Amino acid sequence: MAIDLQQDAQLLERERQQARPVAANGDHQAALKLFRAVAEKALGDWTCHVELARELRLLGYLQDAIKGLRQAIALAPSQIELRCELIDILEKLGRERVIASECEELLKRIHNHPEILLPAALALEKSKQVDACLAALRRLLELQPDHFDGRQHLRRIQTERIPPWHFAMMNDEPRNVAYEEVLRRAMKPDTHVFEIGTGSGILSMLAARAGAARVTTCEANPQIAAVAQQIIRDNGYDDVVTVIPRPSWEIDAERDLGGKADLFVAEILSDTLLDEGILRITDQARRDLLMPGAQLIPHGVSAMARLVGGEALASTTMVTQAAGFDLSAFNRYIPASLSINSDSRELLTLSDDIEVFRFDLDQELPKPEQRDIACQAREDGLCIGVLQWVRLYMDAETVFENRLADRFAPSAWRQRLFPFAEPVVVKKGEQVEFRASHNIASLAFDRRVV
Ligand SMILES: C[S@@+](CC[C@H](N)C(=O)[O-])C[C@H]1O[C@@H](n2cnc3c(N)ncnc32)[C@H](O)[C@@H]1O
Repeated sequence: MAIDLQQDAQLLERERQQARPVAANGDHQAALKLFRAVAEKALGDWTCHVELARELRLLGYLQDAIKGLRQAIALAPSQIELRCELIDILEKLGRERVIASECEELLKRIHNHPEILLPAALALEKSKQVDACLAALRRLLELQPDHFDGRQHLRRIQTERIPPWHFAMMNDEPRNVAYEEVLRRAMKPDTHVFEIGTGSGILSMLAARAGAARVTTCEANPQIAAVAQQIIRDNGYDDVVTVIPRPSWEIDAERDLGGKADLFVAEILSDTLLDEGILRITDQARRDLLMPGAQLIPHGVSAMARLVGGEALASTTMVTQAAGFDLSAFNRYIPASLSINSDSRELLTLSDDIEVFRFDLDQELPKPEQRDIACQAREDGLCIGVLQWVRLYMDAETVFENRLADRFAPSAWRQRLFPFAEPVVVKKGEQVEFRASHNIASLAFDRRVV
């Protein structure tokens, strides 16, 4: 009997050895048959179920792969990576509730095992279970506070969904002052302010400090909403300001705001004006969440532009000769647009400022538009493209923009360069044309192909 068993085991092992190269060569259908035959015979061997499950997964039989993995887990409950694989497949199927309980189960099992917490956290990250991943990393650091890799991963994952421009924006004094001034002018003792995009909570606290009766603010990013709640509490404004950790389109005026608000404030403006979705977001808020005639801050925004060029800019955006070679074929990869750093070199301004598109946020949503713009060259020079910046119509008195001088502006909003596909030499006084377009959610500028 013992010999039989041994022989059976050897036979099974041989069959597995035959199946593996078949899988490695990419013939997964054939490999599946072979692995299935093995798994059916070796019911008590968890590794056979795993091999079968992996083939099933590769072939897209996800439900069967889940069954196989569950069989393997039942036989080998301490094999943490199997649970991670299972969570990964469940993620692909969008089975959120099952995932949550699997994550909970996984975290319970690895709770006191620092050696498993990091690989498990990374597997959870791979399957997009960010909360569970963060919980595993935090637990790891409770057990081993100086675990370098654990700390680095925690910082990386924790900050991944927090755009770094938040810091420059919070510190942008001229911007903050403009919002505060306008909020003070708009405020009446019973004003209910609604803000979209809490961020750190700064605009909501400015509204509270300006005397709002109450402020409701919503933030789509739950991590940011959580820190804003803490900041607002720390600064003593939590009796006036309520943070709703949800995107604006999930807000209901009655349920969440206790009725429509009479003053709206937001700063959901990207460098390129439209990319954070300001037009659609404000339009929805205006219709569903604000009193008719409510004041909006800002009430209008514009895409501003001017032609720029010069050798310094050319050297960072295009190429002709370098080291004695003609490299100009590389110019097919001149980017459609790029942000300009405030420490970049001087620009050659080649046209007056142009207000390319103005959007009145208290009016109906505009339609996408294309515009051909002609302007006069102010200088001779190599015109690289269009430099774009933002203008905010805050109220009747205050207009704010991030164009300061003929140098790059030191503002949290960076100016955006839209290089032409082919730079053009211009002569002073000559007419230069370019095309501008927007599709509600983004801007584009280029020369027309003639
Ligand atoms: C440019 S930041 C401004 C933050 C803050 N209000 C300030 O002025 O410093 C925009 C913030 O709005 C959030 N956000 C963008 N669209 C949103 C929406 N539709 N609903 C809720 N929050 C949104 C982003 O996650 C981000 O934190």
